[in-house]
Amino acid sequence: MTAVGVWWSPWREDGDSLILHVDLRPDAGREERAFAILDDHERARWNRFMVKGARRQFALCRAALRINLCDRLGCSNRELSFGYLKHGKPFARVNGVPSGANFNLSHSGRHGLVGFTKRDGLGVDLEVRVPGRDFDGIGSSVYGPRERLALSAAAGREKVDLFYRLWSLKEALIKALGTGFSLSPSRFEVPGPMIEGGRSGVFRFPHLPSDPFWLEDLGEPRFAAARACRLTPEDRHA
Ligand SMILES: CC(C)(COP(=O)(O)OP(=O)(O)OC[C@H]1O[C@@H](n2cnc3c(N)ncnc32)[C@H](O)[C@@H]1OP(=O)(O)O)[C@@H](O)C(=O)NCCC(=O)NCCS
Repeated sequence: MTAVGVWWSPWREDGDSLILHVDLRPDAGREERAFAILDDHERARWNRFMVKGARRQFALCRAALRINLCDRLGCSNRELSFGYLKHGKPFARVNGVPSGANFNLSHSGRHGLVGFTKRDGLGVDLEVRVPGRDFDGIGSSVYGPRERLALSAAAGREKVDLFYRLWSLKEALIKALGTGFSLSPSRFEVPGPMIEGGRSGVFRFPHLPSDPFWLEDLGEPRFAAARACRLTPEDRHA
């Protein structure tokens, strides 16, 4: 597929990591091309989505993931398939053999992110900010005490931004770990300086103190976003 016809573009590139932005605006031509790339299992999943927007998000992101993984792994689309860990985190197989590729993706509204890295344990999250929700009410069940305090002290636009910033940071972490929401997000808090607006920091789950992650706020005017990635022993001694 030529670069002209694609619906994704590099968004963050540093060292051995890349995040693509995926354009999820309605586009029948793109959706048809994306659908053609999916395997039978993915098409069955696509069929089970009741809402058009969810179908579009899934097909466009999954096809972008497939094409870019094939490039990186040097395999054909037919040779690539996905397996799923206990809580649904996908991993890539080439001819049925786990490939070791590290990737993660997220979609919200008309935006998607697909992240790749050479390291293990990657989580990315994107949240389009929707004003007018009961942020303190939702926060009381998903945020920890310091996070709730900061949220209740914020007002207006600042509250909306903080709510989604915290949400994307916490979701990137549970996606990096692979547990999804089977681990309640109220059971851990993002590092204090990041609650206050810091853009990056080292994070440790309270129940896994010897397994640190590098956490980054990648939010921008269009959406809140975050990346979490496990730190290797080499990183820790660098
Ligand atoms: C993972 C999860 C947090 C994603 O939430 P979301 O806001 O709906 O979705 P996002 O757009 O940010 O990310 C979706 C992508 O994350 C990936 N993903 C799914 N499960 C994941 C997991 N456990 N860890 C990391 N990534 C995961 C997939 O690639 C998925 O994309 P796809 O649906 O196109 O395949 C949520 O789906 C979840 O908690 N799932 C776990 C469910 C679970 O624990 N079930 C246990 C039953 S016993």
